[in-house]
Amino acid sequence: MNTLAGKKIILGITGSIAAYKAAFFVRLLIKKGADVKVIMTQSATTFISPLTLSTLSKNPVITGIADGDEWSNHVELGLWADALIIAPATANTLAKMANGICDNILNAVYLSARCPVFIAPGMDLDMWTHPSTQANIQKLISFNNLLIEPESGELASGLIGKGRMAEPENILTFLSNFFRKEHLSLAGKTVLITAGPTYEPIDPVRFIGNHSSGKMGKALAAKVVARGGQVKLILGPSKLNIAQPGIEVIRITTALEMLDAAKKHFAQADIAIMAAAVADFRPKNVATEKIKKKANQDEMNIELVKNPDIAATLGNMKTNKQILIGFALETEQPVANATRKLNKKGFDFIVLNSLKDKGAGFNHDTNRITLVFKDNKTQEFQLKSKLDVADDILDAIEQVTKEKK
Ligand code: CTP
Repeated sequence: MNTLAGKKIILGITGSIAAYKAAFFVRLLIKKGADVKVIMTQSATTFISPLTLSTLSKNPVITGIADGDEWSNHVELGLWADALIIAPATANTLAKMANGICDNILNAVYLSARCPVFIAPGMDLDMWTHPSTQANIQKLISFNNLLIEPESGELASGLIGKGRMAEPENILTFLSNFFRKEHLSLAGKTVLITAGPTYEPIDPVRFIGNHSSGKMGKALAAKVVARGGQVKLILGPSKLNIAQPGIEVIRITTALEMLDAAKKHFAQADIAIMAAAVADFRPKNVATEKIKKKANQDEMNIELVKNPDIAATLGNMKTNKQILIGFALETEQPVANATRKLNKKGFDFIVLNSLKDKGAGFNHDTNRITLVFKDNKTQEFQLKSKLDVADDILDAIEQVTKEKK
């Protein structure tokens, strides 16, 4: 997904030796289809020629408040941009930005910009570690500027350490990720999802199972990854083929195995979504050999015992920071029953599946849900693809997360 196509980007270049890398960076942005305008400080022009950058960016380079008899409107530039990136940012420019000093066009645009501002510092090791630079960086972060950390390596001075401006490819990745808004909302979060059926063995060839396909869990996992999260998908026997970076699939067969895996991974999860159709009961005894029918046998009984409730177990383990979501399928008094389950199992909200719609439920690619919250509030949705349903569920999770903070 190219999130930079058509984005209006101002690149501010200041006087560090890393300024030469700006040429590569502009080329990368242009290749991605971004619209790039370059602003240079006077000192930057001693490191790289404005002609190189105007040629690569296909736009005139701005170096002063007035270029010839033309006035550069810093307010207009600040409003035009979708992003302002200062790369390389010298210690001097950082200090000015942190203190509102505005003695050149770049600082004027910075103060006028309403768009996100990215800073990629580039300087020598000792300048970077100096307490004044570090204090300025902290101040700039507190103003919601986004820091693209310098990298470690050999510096122009010959010293080895941190201070080198991030490589243009890495700055580009940072920017692309930022614009992938969907992607970022769950960045850094681990989401545990149980999905699919469980099979409870009767003997080596037979089992008790259900029609759950695991499709809703797969859709949820894909959407979590699209929002930047990591998924641990505990999946019962399902025909689905899931091989996607960001999704660790833990295949299990029985409810007891699902419980073990869920307990093992829950502590590391920020969010857990219980989408599995867990068999409520399992055969008390599992025959080691295939059960043979006896002559004249007309009936057969299998004694069942209750399976543990995985969701309720996690509900008991849950900390205040964790979010736990359940599913319910009800035929009578759906909201009242769903609310009862929500309270019993410690869910933050519950996803009520509809039985009324033809395209909803097991094995379909569509679903129709109602969300039931703790305060008895409900939110109904239309019949949608399971991928779109997953987005609705994740939107609600993000809302609940915000309210918890
Ligand atoms: N669930 C679970 N472990 C179980 C049974 C259910 O984790 N042993 C989870 C499901 O994944 C779902 C929620 O609990 O998120 C509700 O499941 P459901 O089977 O509808 O609830 P039960 O409490 O079993 O109620 P009943 O079968 O009586 O409707």
